[in-house]
Amino acid sequence: MNEDLSNKTAVITGASHGLGRAVAFKLAALGARAALIARRPDPLKQTAAAIREQGGEASVYPCDVSDSSQARETAVQIQNAFGAIHILINNAGIPAPRQFEETGFDDWDQVIGVNLSGVFYLTRSLWDSLKSADSACVINISGTAGLRGGGSPAYGSSKFGLTGLNYAIANAGADHNIRSTILYPGGMDTGWRGAPIGVASRSESMDPDTVADMIAHLVTSPPEFVVNEAVLNPLDYPFM
Ligand SMILES: NC(=O)c1ccc[n+]([C@@H]2O[C@H](COP(=O)([O-])OP(=O)(O)OC[C@H]3O[C@@H](n4cnc5c(N)ncnc54)[C@H](OP(=O)(O)O)[C@@H]3O)[C@@H](O)[C@H]2O)c1
Repeated sequence: MNEDLSNKTAVITGASHGLGRAVAFKLAALGARAALIARRPDPLKQTAAAIREQGGEASVYPCDVSDSSQARETAVQIQNAFGAIHILINNAGIPAPRQFEETGFDDWDQVIGVNLSGVFYLTRSLWDSLKSADSACVINISGTAGLRGGGSPAYGSSKFGLTGLNYAIANAGADHNIRSTILYPGGMDTGWRGAPIGVASRSESMDPDTVADMIAHLVTSPPEFVVNEAVLNPLDYPFM
């Protein structure tokens, strides 16, 4: 498999922390020009600086993907800077209250806004740039909450919705050499919901760098087929 991403542009959301940061490092190490998106500029700039220190190419686009105007404006800036987009990693995501009775309207709107609407806003806004690449791929980061019922109502609904959106993107992209994959990871060691980082064993909580390696494999897989979906779980918690 050719894992060289030289002359490819990759847009990564949620790129300043956790899985998104790990993916940004990995794709930049493979030669991609990384366009990094998150809300807060400072952690984003620190990530870009660290990537550049390692010889990679990275630029920052502070943006709240749940705000359609910001997503559209950011997409225009990225299109003007790079033209074709080869890789879009829709990773930005936030958690939500676990219980139905604890879930307020604001919680619902915020989580659906980031985890689902944000993916639509950015992918739709970058669509012409994805189409103009010879071959492009979109990776949508869900979670095992997107495969099973129960759990947080707003979070689970956002990730279930993302499954539908992933297939809509795949369908629309088929005629334009755009592939779309949905990834359902289980627990990762990113400090999610305030969990301490580096305490759980790797078989209990996955290393985001290792998951990023898996994403790099998906991105560099042969362009004539699409991996529709992938489920990854820590070994101690095999799915279902
Ligand atoms: N960690 C897990 O155990 C786990 C398990 C299954 C699935 N997932 C999924 O994996 C993805 C990444 O999770 P993670 O644990 O790496 O998250 P994380 O460490 O909390 O990082 C989230 C990233 O998203 C950015 N972000 C949040 N809201 C945003 C918005 N409205 N617009 C743009 N960027 C935004 C954050 O930066 P700013 O705050 O500066 O915006 C940050 O860079 C999420 O989609 C999550 O649902 C995680």
